[in-house]
Amino acid sequence: MEYRTDTDGITAGMLEGFFAGWPDPPSEETHLRLLRNSSHKVVAVDRKAGRAVGFITAVSDGVLSAYIPLLEVLPEYQGIGIGRELVRRMTGELNHLYMIDVCCDDDVVPFYERFGMHRTNGMIVRNYSRQSGKVME
Ligand SMILES: CC(C)(COP(=O)(O)OP(=O)(O)OC[C@H]1O[C@@H](n2cnc3c(N)ncnc32)[C@H](O)[C@@H]1OP(=O)(O)O)[C@@H](O)C(=O)NCCC(=O)NCCS
Repeated sequence: MEYRTDTDGITAGMLEGFFAGWPDPPSEETHLRLLRNSSHKVVAVDRKAGRAVGFITAVSDGVLSAYIPLLEVLPEYQGIGIGRELVRRMTGELNHLYMIDVCCDDDVVPFYERFGMHRTNGMIVRNYSRQSGKVME
């Protein structure tokens, strides 16, 4: 498995299958755009299969804080340590900051607790009409 912190050599065609279960998922092109725009990213690439199989993004002010909006490993690649490696590499990149925040569902809390993260409250807005991230006309 290759772990990349840039999007060089990653094409939209290599990003199939992500956003599992999202009613209105971003397209592969939009996925590539959000990876490029994120201040930090780690992408797990299965070179033999010619595809990305996991990714994590962060947006940061570079001074105090970073937020991790997205982490996903393709279902058929889950359970073999890729998620752990993505988080390990990302928190390594962000460790000089004061705050590293993630919002997640209850079932993923034990996963993040393994990295020394702890539960707090989060407040969110979700504009479901914008879930796909499509560029507005
Ligand atoms: C959560 C997710 C990224 C984990 O990725 P993964 O590659 O399957 O995880 P790993 O194989 O690296 O697991 C690392 C360890 O965490 C454990 N683990 C994985 N998911 C877990 C969960 N939901 N709760 C508790 N432990 C979990 C594994 O058993 C493993 O334990 P081990 O070190 O004792 O072997 C993956 O399940 C996923 O993409 N889920 C759907 C999207 C999602 O929920 N993303 C998080 C959004 S905030």
